[in-house]
Amino acid sequence: MLSLATSLALLASVSHASPILQTRQTNETNPFVFTNSNGLNFTQMNSSLPNVAIFATGGTIAGSSDSSTATAGYTAGALGIMTLISAVPELLNVSNVAGIQISNVGSEDVTSTILLTLAKEINKYVCQDDSMAGAVVTHGTDVLEETAFFLDATVNCGKPVVVVGAMRPATAISADGPFNLLEAVTVAVSPEAKDRGAMVVMNDRITSAYYVTKTNANTMDTFRAPEQGHLGALLSNTPYFYYPPVKPTGKSEYAVDNVTSIPRVDILFAYEDMHSDTLYNAVKSGAKGVVIAGAGAGGVSTPFNAAMEDVISNHCIPIVQSTRAMSGEVPSTGISSDTALHIASGYLNPMKSRILLGLLLAHGKNMTEIAEAFAPSTVA
Ligand SMILES: *[C@@H]1O[C@H](CO)[C@@H](O)[C@H](O)[C@H]1NC(C)=O
Ligand SMILES: *[C@@H]1O[C@H](CO)[C@@H](O)[C@H](O)[C@H]1NC(C)=O
Ligand SMILES: *[C@@H]1O[C@H](CO)[C@@H](O)[C@H](O)[C@H]1NC(C)=O
Ligand SMILES: *[C@@H]1O[C@H](CO)[C@@H](O)[C@H](O)[C@H]1NC(C)=O
Ligand SMILES: *[C@@H]1O[C@H](CO)[C@@H](O)[C@H](O)[C@H]1NC(C)=O
Ligand SMILES: *[C@@H]1O[C@H](CO)[C@@H](O)[C@H](O)[C@H]1NC(C)=O
Repeated sequence: MLSLATSLALLASVSHASPILQTRQTNETNPFVFTNSNGLNFTQMNSSLPNVAIFATGGTIAGSSDSSTATAGYTAGALGIMTLISAVPELLNVSNVAGIQISNVGSEDVTSTILLTLAKEINKYVCQDDSMAGAVVTHGTDVLEETAFFLDATVNCGKPVVVVGAMRPATAISADGPFNLLEAVTVAVSPEAKDRGAMVVMNDRITSAYYVTKTNANTMDTFRAPEQGHLGALLSNTPYFYYPPVKPTGKSEYAVDNVTSIPRVDILFAYEDMHSDTLYNAVKSGAKGVVIAGAGAGGVSTPFNAAMEDVISNHCIPIVQSTRAMSGEVPSTGISSDTALHIASGYLNPMKSRILLGLLLAHGKNMTEIAEAFAPSTVA
């Protein structure tokens, strides 16, 4: 944390920085020296550096454990955003940082309400403010890919949105959170990172939020896009992108300004001898859409297929068939059915398909429009 003297010196040196409206006296309980016109609080304001907002949701990156060797069984989301920022003073050589605590939960407890808040706040605090370079979201890793995909679809101002987490809690030896956070902030303020949608930065790799998935339950090299690969990497905290910016095939964008809730979408996992009552239970419990993590290219048992026909036709519930395999696509031609409205997920995995279907339902899209939205991710 900066001393009061340093803070005041900084304050004097950049008093011309126009977007920053108020300067404040700092003390132990209030380390913030600058507040911008949106009310974001910064611990420093160096006008030669870009500004970034870190939106904290919780997770292992904010995790705490009594043991320095525990990499499981710790409490996720125990540390606040200011603790994270002050643990990585190197951040202040890269950017001026403001922290916003959105929630402090393990990632499994991130709700669609939190997702909507997150997207709206990034749009407000970062997209609509010319003085902000980008956004970083700290998040638990377990369902991080879902949040990253949601933000990729709902924050579309061209500024980098970087989602980051940690596999080891902050209290572990060789905790990966601090370096991941520094790399995430560095990418978020990098001009080369613009117009690439949301990205995940973990373990020195930069990966498209549209394709990234958690491939290993424990290790630090878990975030990958097995077929599509990484967008780039960092060496000595300098990002390197392998290709110029490009929009992922099939990606669609959604405004959430006026969206107040996301309808429930359930995922059902296919297995040998699959029963069909789980589908009816999902519908009875209030699911407005269903995604199937199908076997291979979307396959399900004959009884389950018959139940799907019934639910699509008679309950008007859209069902998207994805795959439980880690990679590959579900083509529309691969889904055998009598109903034209079976929807194939293409290259979207079940988790990403669920997010997309929820957004489409939130926008009141009908079955035809939903099928059309998934079609561009699909070969046939
Ligand atoms: C610390 O600063 C804040 C605002 O800058 C002020 O409201 C608060 O009273 C100060 N606390 C102390 C102990 O001086
Ligand atoms: C900035 O600090 C003020 C005073 O401590 C607080 O009321 C406000 O909520 C903070 N802004 C954000 C976005 O956290
Ligand atoms: C502000 O940032 C620039 C660029 O990194 C650096 O050269 C300068 O020393 C910083 N100023 C202060 C007061 O830290
Ligand atoms: C910030 O950059 C300066 C100049 O390159 C360097 O001397 C200093 O060690 C850096 N501080 C941190 C915390 O990395
Ligand atoms: C949200 O609603 C307002 C007021 O009805 C309207 O002006 C605005 O265009 C809407 N925004 C979007 C993205 O639909
Ligand atoms: C779905 O919505 C589109 C666009 O509003 C409309 O043209 C089409 O007729 C609708 N289809 C059905 C089956 O309601």
